[in-house]
Amino acid sequence: MIRPILKMGSPSLLVPSRPVTRFDTPDLHALVTDLEDTMAAADGAGIAAPQIGINLQVVIFGTGAPNPRYPDAPVVPRTVLVNPVITPLGEDGEEGWEGCLSVPGLRGMVPRASRIRYAGYDPLGQAIEREVDGFHARVVQHECDHLWGILYPMRIRDMSKFGFTSVLFPQLEDNTGD
Ligand code: NI
Repeated sequence: MIRPILKMGSPSLLVPSRPVTRFDTPDLHALVTDLEDTMAAADGAGIAAPQIGINLQVVIFGTGAPNPRYPDAPVVPRTVLVNPVITPLGEDGEEGWEGCLSVPGLRGMVPRASRIRYAGYDPLGQAIEREVDGFHARVVQHECDHLWGILYPMRIRDMSKFGFTSVLFPQLEDNTGD
C-alpha cells in the first residue's frame, strides 16, 4: 500500500529506530511491501521505514533500472536491508548531490565516505554483506542515516550548495519532487 511520506519537521524522522527482532513475519513483509509501493510511486532511489512513520531499522534502495530522478546515476541492485551496520573503508570521502523524499523539491551537496562495507539481513533473516563505492555507497549511507534520525541537510557543509531542484537542475524532466 502506498503510504504518506513524512516530511522534514516530523519528530519521527529525528529519532533512532529500533532493530527488527523477528524475521519472516507477516508484519515485516507488509512493511517491506508498503515501502516498495511508496518508493515506486515517488520514483525514489531509496526509502527508510521511519519515512512512513515506522521506527524500525528497515531500508530499501535500488531499482535495478535507471532512475528518472537520477538519470545519470549507476544502477543499484534492488535491496531490502534490515538492521544495517556500515563501516567506512579507508579515509576517502566525496561530495555529491542528494535529494530526499522527506525533503521535497530540494537538493544539497553532501559529504559521504567513498567506499563502505555494509552488513545486515534480508526480511527472511539471511545475512547480506557487500563492499561498494560511489553512488551505491552514497544511497546506503543516506538511507541508513534515516535510521539514526539524521536527514541529509544536517550533513551539508556548504549551505550555498543547497537549493531547489528546479533551479539547480532545470534540465531534469521530473524536478518537482525531491
Ligand atoms: Ni531520504
